[in-house]
Amino acid sequence: MPKVTVLPHPVLCPEGAEFETEAGKSLCDVLLAHDIGIEHACGQCGACSTCHAVIRQGFDSLSEMEDREADMLDRAWGLEPESRLTCQAKVGTEDLTVEIPRYTRNLVSERG
Ligand code: FES
Repeated sequence: MPKVTVLPHPVLCPEGAEFETEAGKSLCDVLLAHDIGIEHACGQCGACSTCHAVIRQGFDSLSEMEDREADMLDRAWGLEPESRLTCQAKVGTEDLTVEIPRYTRNLVSERG
């Protein structure tokens, strides 16, 4: 089972986190299942960029990115080459290290 390491985030997981998960689940679901409240303003349908995270390790093991995700990802705050929308990225068999950016650009809710 792949191990997921989440780097500390000041609000969502100040101490960081580490847990094992099953391959094939969306990374967003995996994070939420472990009480890491990553934003998912569009309900995980790939229509916002609030679930953005940077994959510091294991990027290539995630499911392939589709054009629609790439388009939405362009709007994410703090975009990096290893960025993914976690609701669209399915966990593979390799360990992952995930960094949740400090901010999100939320075009859906009023919090901005
Ligand atoms: Fe909106 Fe992932 S929750 S794109």
